[in-house]
Amino acid sequence: MPQFDLGVLGGGQLARMSIQAAQRMGLRCLALDPDPECCTSQLAPVIAGRLDDPEAIARLVSQCNRVTLENEFIPAWAIADAFALAQANPQRLMPGWDVLATIQDKLLQRQAYARYGAPTPRAVPLQGDGREAIEAIGFPMVLKARFGGYDGKGTRYARTPEEFEALRPQWQEGWLAEAFVPFRRELAAMVYRSPHVCGAFPTMETVQTNHVCDLVYPSGVDASEVAIAAVEAVGGYGLFGVEMFEQEDGSVLINETAPAQHGPLHPGLGRCQPVRDARAVGDGPALDRACGRRHLYGEPTRPAS
Ligand SMILES: Nc1ncnc2c1ncn2[C@@H]1O[C@H](COP(=O)(O)OP(=O)(O)O)[C@@H](O)[C@H]1O
Ligand SMILES: [Mg+2]
Repeated sequence: MPQFDLGVLGGGQLARMSIQAAQRMGLRCLALDPDPECCTSQLAPVIAGRLDDPEAIARLVSQCNRVTLENEFIPAWAIADAFALAQANPQRLMPGWDVLATIQDKLLQRQAYARYGAPTPRAVPLQGDGREAIEAIGFPMVLKARFGGYDGKGTRYARTPEEFEALRPQWQEGWLAEAFVPFRRELAAMVYRSPHVCGAFPTMETVQTNHVCDLVYPSGVDASEVAIAAVEAVGGYGLFGVEMFEQEDGSVLINETAPAQHGPLHPGLGRCQPVRDARAVGDGPALDRACGRRHLYGEPTRPAS
């Protein structure tokens, strides 16, 4: 019998928040992180090991009834290998590695939404001289790395053929081209889904500065239907952060899904700290916006040793 109820791959702030919630429900938790003194270690035992090392992951898997992950970058293949090594039932992993493999490739993700009939910008692979992509998508166009992008690090804009040419040295096979969405706002919602229950937390407005989520507000709209469709489209069970675009006419398109806790959407802890603005005095939208949070970045702090 596994000794722990829940194993989390990753021991950073998001794992810590999940583990705090699980412990309040009486669950015994274990984490895996390269840093044995990661912030989760203050709350729960941590196995020190790399998150792309199947043997290290297998050590956690063999001790836990359920396994989940802290972020979307832990390679699906490494988790699959670990389950094989531990001879563990794949159903103990949430989300499953097939779902992770789809989400980890931004093109497969878009294709899954399109197949399911969920609203999303059109996307095609960026190949050869790029002419096929230009014909399929036109301008303005967004160029994206299919794998490993975050905080806009794999995102470029080409408004004209000239800009597309100028970006040529920056993309290679393994990028995609998609339609630029002239969105009114960006929205996001956390979705939970199991075979028995499915729902979404309130839809938030997120404001990105230089592609990095900076401010989060209650949005005043409910985009749960689209957010849940995104998770159904990839066949996901577990917890997901879904990013969306709200267009001028109020319709919503899916941008992308993270198969894990989503930093900017998580209230109150870690680097996401509540902001109470003096402008709070007021009502309606003014008050709503005053309840926003600023997403704070910085080096993690440790007590001096
Ligand atoms: N198709 C698009 N049209 C307009 N803006 C986009 C589009 N795709 C991405 N962006 C902008 O770039 C940001 C980062 O892109 P995203 O696909 O979310 O990648 P990342 O993995 O870096 O978060 C988005 O939050 C949005 O502001
Ligand atoms: Mg994003």
